[in-house]
Amino acid sequence: MATDFPADKFKQYGTPFYYYDTDVLRKTVETASAEAGKHGFHLHYAVKANANPEILRIISSYGIGADCVSWNEIQRALDCGFSPGKIVFAGAGKSDYEIENALKAGILCINCESVQEIGVIDSIAGRLGIKADIALRINPYVDAHTHKHITTAIEDSKFGIPMNHINDAVAVLKESGNINMTGIHFHIGSQITRLQVFKSLCARINEISDQLARLGVALRIINVGGGLGIDYHNPETIPSFKEYFELFKELLKIYPGQEVHFEPGRSLVAQCGSLISRVLYIKNGDTSTFAVIDAGMNDLIRPALYQAYHKIENITSAGVRAFYNVVGPVCESADIFGKQVELPETARGDIIAIRSVGAYGESMASRYNLRDLAPSYFSDRL
Ligand code: LLP
Repeated sequence: MATDFPADKFKQYGTPFYYYDTDVLRKTVETASAEAGKHGFHLHYAVKANANPEILRIISSYGIGADCVSWNEIQRALDCGFSPGKIVFAGAGKSDYEIENALKAGILCINCESVQEIGVIDSIAGRLGIKADIALRINPYVDAHTHKHITTAIEDSKFGIPMNHINDAVAVLKESGNINMTGIHFHIGSQITRLQVFKSLCARINEISDQLARLGVALRIINVGGGLGIDYHNPETIPSFKEYFELFKELLKIYPGQEVHFEPGRSLVAQCGSLISRVLYIKNGDTSTFAVIDAGMNDLIRPALYQAYHKIENITSAGVRAFYNVVGPVCESADIFGKQVELPETARGDIIAIRSVGAYGESMASRYNLRDLAPSYFSDRL
């Protein structure tokens, strides 16, 4: 039986709910900040991974910045203690209203994703009588070798300005009197576990920096995005931030006065979260035994959407081990958390923990089937 969950306390709570271990979160953010700090790197937490206000307050207390993809995320980040000067704003489809609000809020920069967007930002900034700080998000054509839904920098990806169109972007920049070009931005994908991918990214960024230098564009910020993967099979492990940041320090050409920025999401928050649920029914199928739990794909969509693996534990039984298909109650055949999962003998009422769900769990939850949104609880105030 896993010992790190207060199972007796959990039995008194309604399920399902998200449970966050704040010690794990703090230790992870401390490790990442310390390792980045050794090289003078700047961090912006990718709010989309988990926008729970308590999580945001803990992360902002370490003084790092935020990476947002909507005005609502920016507003939430500001409310939870992130300073505007450390907020970046990406997204392939920012509305005029979002751009205007971001400019008025005085954020660090807007990561601009198309040539047309440069013109739109320029005209909004002109109307407001201010200069807009922007970075160009460039598609460097580096395959992240991860799930296709979270690969963002291959040919014909909707994200960023294709590398082949840099000249066009620079031409527009030169005519945009209300724009202050601060740097370049990349994000090639998520749950990247092969460090070789980041080596390819560094090589490509160096080429792009040189190309921009030749075009007379000075870069202060080089933002390499997020993407560092975690070990879903071992929820106790903290990602290897040391190796990750050292790789960039070694391979990225950084000129005096340039800053390197990162946007980690998953790597900071995934391991601190678990989805806690109760077993509703055990039923025998034709070839397998089902454990039907009270959490569904509306609470955690990753297994259904990306065929993602999450470790599943029964934290209240120590019986003989057997195999179960662990499924939710939602009316979709994709509502399956794991097939042939080995668990101690499981019965109605047992408590199940689905691990490593701190990233893209709660933030992607929906009310499909009109189910309630799961609440969240924190280890330091149960
Ligand atoms: N920066 C930008 C511009 C991004 O689009 C993302 C994630 C990040 C940073 C953070 O990436 P991370 O460090 O978390 O890999 N829902 C999917 C992941 C989608 C990632 C979207 N962009 C999942 O559950 O696997």
